[in-house]
Amino acid sequence: MINNSPTNSITLIQPDDFHLHVREGDALKSVVPDTARQFARAIIMPNLADPITTVEQAQNYREEILASVTDIDEDSKNGTDFEPLMTLYLTDKTTAETIVAAKASGIIHALKLYPAGATTNSDKGVTNLENIYPALEAMQETGIPLLVHGEVTDPEIDIFDRERVFIETILEPLIKRFPTLKVVLEHITTSDAVEFVTNAPDTIAATITAHHLLMNRNTIFAGGIRPHHYCLPILKRETHRQALVKAATSGNPKFFLGTDSAPHTQGAKESACGCAGMYTAYHAMELYAEAFDNADALDKLEGFSSIFGAKFYGLPQNTNSITLNRESWQVPANLPLGKEQIIPLRAGEQCHWTLVSND
Ligand code: NCD
Ligand code: ZN
Repeated sequence: MINNSPTNSITLIQPDDFHLHVREGDALKSVVPDTARQFARAIIMPNLADPITTVEQAQNYREEILASVTDIDEDSKNGTDFEPLMTLYLTDKTTAETIVAAKASGIIHALKLYPAGATTNSDKGVTNLENIYPALEAMQETGIPLLVHGEVTDPEIDIFDRERVFIETILEPLIKRFPTLKVVLEHITTSDAVEFVTNAPDTIAATITAHHLLMNRNTIFAGGIRPHHYCLPILKRETHRQALVKAATSGNPKFFLGTDSAPHTQGAKESACGCAGMYTAYHAMELYAEAFDNADALDKLEGFSSIFGAKFYGLPQNTNSITLNRESWQVPANLPLGKEQIIPLRAGEQCHWTLVSND
């Protein structure tokens, strides 16, 4: 007999977030505990105003992150064993020696390629890939992954086409030149990216955000312009969202979780020239559970969120677990961000899953 009763509770190996922005200073102190309550580990993006380009900077940044989780949730110690997985920001000047030092550090797990001008704090990024060929060669040799913001920066290219054009003109030739380099195409948003990653060798993977699984580009303009739905890569049309859901729920280990939670103050978002980024760290697993539930694929959530990414990065599987219940709750209208505030995704609206325990 077919059992049609819905699943009302799921327990998963504790997940990892393979793409996260935590900023620095007071803002960092506000946001890191949100991630640490849900995730065991997170790949920390290096795009600070002064980007993390050296091992020493990464060590200091890691200490700052660790210090912000020591005093959360005193009773249960939830989140206090959170492990930040550090990355370095590639610039035109990154050398092979830096790659060797990064690998030797034991704390740096990847290098991030921001095409110069592609997104928040990317102006010091790479202007021409040939400038970092020696660094890429060293990465290929040491097996440390390259994380790619996959959008071309040419303002002549339509914003909705920038990912596809990046794959065709930059990523495909790059992979031909460095055939065994491990690459993660970050926060994919198109069926073109899904197809490319699916057909690529096993050294190529992709992260997918909760917001790209749940929303299409109409939500940027629902009843007026919605700055909190603006992120990069920008939300795409419905057919692309459906392709992402299919990839995430397919059980293919090339696709795994990366929230791209990217906090900006309310003022920086609600502005004549607002910043790109959505804040989802507060309720990330609830949002992913909803996306998988909508696709009737809750049984595929654990692989996507807790197994495939760790395997790709060569990390051990987590031993703790989390439980989510089908239970609605209202997302707060705002949250503190240092002395200012942030508007989380779905502020004031309902989430349909609740994270009930982390043990
Ligand atoms: C990110 C940020 O604000 O740092 N913004 C975003 O819209 N995702 C940068 C990025 O990942 O592109
Ligand atoms: Zn990002």
